[in-house]
Amino acid sequence: MRKKIVAGNWKMNTDLNQAIDLAKGIVAAQSNSVAQLILCPPFPFIQAVSEVCKSSLIAVGAQNCNKNKNGAFTGEVSVQMLVSLGVNYVIVGHSERRTYFNETNQELAEKVVICLEQNITPIFCCGEQLSERNNNIHFNVVQTQIQEALFQLNAEEFSKIIIAYEPVWAIGTGVTATPAQAQEMHQFIRKVISENYGKAIADNISILYGGSCNASNAKELFALPDVDGGLIGGASLKVTDFISISASF
Ligand code: 13P
Repeated sequence: MRKKIVAGNWKMNTDLNQAIDLAKGIVAAQSNSVAQLILCPPFPFIQAVSEVCKSSLIAVGAQNCNKNKNGAFTGEVSVQMLVSLGVNYVIVGHSERRTYFNETNQELAEKVVICLEQNITPIFCCGEQLSERNNNIHFNVVQTQIQEALFQLNAEEFSKIIIAYEPVWAIGTGVTATPAQAQEMHQFIRKVISENYGKAIADNISILYGGSCNASNAKELFALPDVDGGLIGGASLKVTDFISISASF
């Protein structure tokens, strides 16, 4: 059975004390969620959040990494650095990075490879813009993102990936994909994977939904057959909301 996962993407929010308080609150409040919980704080707070989480089952992730091993890349953070901080997951290809930092599928392919080399699980984000959905090319867009960034992996490597479908028009907007839209896309993603890697691998990949997922709509979304949890932005910054979402299975 595939893993249920709820990951909190804190984005560029919190200061050190707020990050520690948020992590402590989540650790204290989490009950026996069936899901793997993952907290993705900003880089400077990863070590402090790892420290808070270390006696719990909650894992720590990063929001990005550099595609190179090390070297003269001023201001960048390598996967090796993240490993040394106790990180086990990295969000790769979030739409905000694609949009504001011009990340391409080719570059994301390299990031995925370097994560896997260091035994880090990439949470690979895909999703269409509103104009692409309105032009009815959303399936093609998502398929291309997955093919170009991930299909160079062999089956064993690919089976370690987590996918997050985040329709860009739903991120931070309060507009959530309808259950029908989410299920339709998640099922499509699984079909694309199945055609390339076979049904067994497709059936085992966790596909998370992201985009205005909150304490009120998580239950309905997580009940969908092809939705295995969520990648949560705004609602991951409040202990009660994040805990309530993690208990929505
Ligand atoms: P919101 O939950 O704030 O819409 O953000 C979703 C997201 O981008 C998670 O990565």
